[in-house]
Amino acid sequence: MTDLNPQAKQMADESMVRNLDAQARAIWPQEAPLIRRYALPSDARILDAGCGTGEIASRLAELFPQSHVLGIDIVDHHLDLARARYEGLAARLTFEHQSVFELSACDCSFDLTVCRHVLHSIPHPDRVIAGLVRVTRPGGYLHLIPEDYGMLHFQRGALDPRDFWHQVAASFGEATGTDLFMGRNIFGILAAMRLENLSVDYVVVDTVRVPRETFAAILEAWRDGYSESIGQLTPITRESAVAYFNQMIANVRDPHGYAVWMVPVVSAQVPLAKSE
Ligand SMILES: C[S@@+](CC[C@H](N)C(=O)[O-])C[C@H]1O[C@@H](n2cnc3c(N)ncnc32)[C@H](O)[C@@H]1O
Repeated sequence: MTDLNPQAKQMADESMVRNLDAQARAIWPQEAPLIRRYALPSDARILDAGCGTGEIASRLAELFPQSHVLGIDIVDHHLDLARARYEGLAARLTFEHQSVFELSACDCSFDLTVCRHVLHSIPHPDRVIAGLVRVTRPGGYLHLIPEDYGMLHFQRGALDPRDFWHQVAASFGEATGTDLFMGRNIFGILAAMRLENLSVDYVVVDTVRVPRETFAAILEAWRDGYSESIGQLTPITRESAVAYFNQMIANVRDPHGYAVWMVPVVSAQVPLAKSE
């Protein structure tokens, strides 16, 4: 049977809490204007599927002050942290233990369904997307961040980071039954589902737009959370993975260095007449 949560250990690790904090600080300033584009009712019902520590569910609740936001995840520690951190928003922001593979919401429950940094980490993303479409109302929106590990670029040093990402993305994905190139592959999945108004935008996490320390914090968290499994699942050893990450972190911290992570933000609208 396929492991539906092949990154369970990494997702629950303390490094993921740091990572989600840094990623939100890096990405949200460019992402919020993309979310404001949607024609949402003022009292929008919003689902954040795979919400982690609630970084974005809370930002959504703040962005839409009359909305109701539900964050779901399967890591109880993340959910507890989210409930504690955003207690002040509890009247409109709730967190539930629920899998994206078994959404309990009724059909057409949400005006906006968000799923960030999840679809590349699980098998059968098409099944999950079908569930997200089911719970979104006709005319409502999907807002997705499907990561793509061919969209990270660093300067060459003693090591060439191109070799690292090339090896890791292919081997890690194969070993875990996941697609680490979801960013480019999701368009076809959404188009085949006959969703409408598909758009692909990019948040540019680079050393010009994002503080170097924030970008470095993402890489440090990846190093701390993933080097061991990279050593187990890919031809790159744990020690080598650490060396690659350390070089990339130095590249980002170098005041004359340049590096970029292109983060695809993909959106689609559920047709007014949903087809079977
Ligand atoms: C990289 S984090 C992203 C968190 C959040 N979306 C954000 O952008 O800050 C991925 C999250 O997906 C969750 N996840 C993985 N598989 C899941 C599943 N089957 N159902 C619900 N959440 C899941 C993990 O527990 C983790 O918290």
